[in-house]
Amino acid sequence: MRREVRLDELDLLPEDVIRRLEEKDILTVEDFVYADPKYLAEVTGMTEKEVESLQDELRDAVAEADEVEFRTLDRVERERDRITTGSSALDEILGGGVGCGELTEFAGPFGSGKTQIAFQLCVNVQLPESEGGLEAKAVFIDTEGTISPQRIKQMAQAAGLDPGEALRNIYVTQVGSVEEQLQAAKRAYELCEREDVGLVAVDSLTAHFRAEFPRLKDVKERQTMLANHVKDLWKIATDHDVAVVFTNQVHVDVEAATKGRGRKYEPVGGTIVAHQATHRIMLRRAKGEVRIARVIDSPYLPQREAPFRITKEGIRDLQTE
Ligand SMILES: Nc1ncnc2c1ncn2[C@@H]1O[C@H](COP(=O)(O)OP(=O)(O)OP(=O)(O)O)[C@@H](O)[C@H]1O
Ligand SMILES: [Mg+2]
Repeated sequence: MRREVRLDELDLLPEDVIRRLEEKDILTVEDFVYADPKYLAEVTGMTEKEVESLQDELRDAVAEADEVEFRTLDRVERERDRITTGSSALDEILGGGVGCGELTEFAGPFGSGKTQIAFQLCVNVQLPESEGGLEAKAVFIDTEGTISPQRIKQMAQAAGLDPGEALRNIYVTQVGSVEEQLQAAKRAYELCEREDVGLVAVDSLTAHFRAEFPRLKDVKERQTMLANHVKDLWKIATDHDVAVVFTNQVHVDVEAATKGRGRKYEPVGGTIVAHQATHRIMLRRAKGEVRIARVIDSPYLPQREAPFRITKEGIRDLQTE
């Protein structure tokens, strides 16, 4: 765990350059170190070489500044906790449910169950540990206006929770732009400091980014902002031992599709979203209520598939006894 160092705390860059970086939401040393050098060169007016050597310098400084910290044992234990999805088959390929201290991405086409899984996790995080929960609260960042109190009450009732109470344990914010979404992640971080939050869900991660940066020439700027946002989510997960999940749309991978090989669908956002420690789960529709989940990218989970159902009660196994 490290403290964030803001660029304006250091005597490294002239003030006008810092201001220009701030306009692009590049505020901290980490923001700078992880941004694309070409893009930084554009923003700062430095050459790419200068940017790269500054990045190297800062990377070393960050590594040195890493501080040793003590944690109480309950927090260490909490790191190993997982939240059940409601389907034991899906839990199994996730390594026992959605993990705290980690980022999990659910990607897939419309109707594949991304939002339903996010709702279900907001309910299940409230369950006692013996039933696969953390007895904790949830934060839901809604970018598409899909949050449905009725649906969540339905799932809560089926899970044996008091529906009204379940709604009171879910903090919701509806965001209408990229700017608001970035803010929401920062507010969520603070909320996790004050409240016993076990899950932060973002549904969906990329919709606003896609809408606000539709043109090819904007891709670099979009990717930098998206990378910063994912890094903020990552900080929530690791600093607060919270399970962070986000949903993602897919676009057709034209090359793979036309050549008849590989995956037809690709999650939006490419490699930046696929942070090296993010579990990426691809969902697809099967017959009726049935959906298939597949682990396509993960630091330690094998690539496996599991079927599950979306029922009136929520996410369930194919057979429920
Ligand atoms: N109350 C309900 N009872 C049973 N099934 C439901 C209920 N509500 C939603 N579903 C199922 O969930 C599906 C929608 O899934 P979901 O909203 O999670 O899709 P999504 O992947 O988020 O799609 P999008 O990309 O459009 O946001 C519906 O097609 C339906 O099959
Ligand atoms: Mg959805």
